[in-house]
Amino acid sequence: MTDILKNETVAFDEAKNALVIIDQTKLPGKIEMLSLTKQEDIHKAIYLLQVRGAPAIGVAAAIGVYLAAREISATDYNSFYIQFKKAKDYLASARPTAVNLFWALDRMERVVLGNTQKNVDEIKNLLKDEAVKIREEDIAVCRAIGENALSLIKDGDGILTHCNAGQLATVKYGTALSPVHLGHEKGMKFRVFCDETRPLLQGARLSAFELAARGVDTTLICDNMASQVMKSGWINAVFVGCDRVAANGDACNKIGTSGVAILANYYKIPFYVCAPTSTIDTAIESGESIPIEQRPAHEITEMWYKERMAPPEIKVFNPAFDVTPNSLITAIITEHGVCRPPFKQTLKQCLK
Ligand code: MRU
Repeated sequence: MTDILKNETVAFDEAKNALVIIDQTKLPGKIEMLSLTKQEDIHKAIYLLQVRGAPAIGVAAAIGVYLAAREISATDYNSFYIQFKKAKDYLASARPTAVNLFWALDRMERVVLGNTQKNVDEIKNLLKDEAVKIREEDIAVCRAIGENALSLIKDGDGILTHCNAGQLATVKYGTALSPVHLGHEKGMKFRVFCDETRPLLQGARLSAFELAARGVDTTLICDNMASQVMKSGWINAVFVGCDRVAANGDACNKIGTSGVAILANYYKIPFYVCAPTSTIDTAIESGESIPIEQRPAHEITEMWYKERMAPPEIKVFNPAFDVTPNSLITAIITEHGVCRPPFKQTLKQCLK
């Protein structure tokens, strides 16, 4: 199997002025790189999960909005800004939950707003520099999260993860899987259990793939097997990523995560959420206000089957994310360190 860590998940091809991504809808069957230049294609790639995972979509959007800015022909600041804002809002509409998307686009907008005295060509160059910086920072941030998380586990531990918060969800290393990748590099041996993660199978198609390809001892389980695996004593810690952390530490992640947290709490297994500080949304007090993306019914009824597996007119509920209450979280691991309850205080300190 190909070691996916040899390809960065989201890249900027400066010569071709293109966003380059691994098409995650084709994994694990095929490693296909997409080179995207048009706004519509970048928007579609984010919506269809060709690029996915909170940090990865933030980086993709930053590169995307730079590519859009490049195409703007207006030479006066005001007309340029109006068109930039239109492109920014369009990309921001691709998915609603992961705050990294808005965080990255806001950061790009600040470059435009903070340089009113410069000419449009200079602003375009600054936008390129900012997009490249956001991408490079993601690599460093994920590595730091991995090192911080590694201090919480030991050689031989059993780890359970849900969805994919690995290399494929970021530029490199991942968040929740970063300690596994870094530990593996140091010769540590972990046994990782991947929830398959219905309905889009990010655990089966992506986490299982990236871990097994590196030679990590990986076992795939259906989502409803986590309790049995925990009861058997095979899990020392749960590591998950997240799409948005509220100021009080409630953490929104892939649908099913809150169930895993409830199980971990029952079996007294530490439940760790790995989050770059760009995922912390201090404007939101609690998880109740986090917008939850609803996805189309066909993802559940037919997408992964040879033939439809549900009655034709059946009602379907398909939320992409759920919120784990802070009371079930042992620690939130950021690039700046390990935050423990009370999260309202510790997250604030971590953001200083
Ligand atoms: O719908 P997805 O695949 O984009 O959902 C991804 C997740 O829920 C991840 O766990 C989260 O974005 C963190 S990725 C480091």
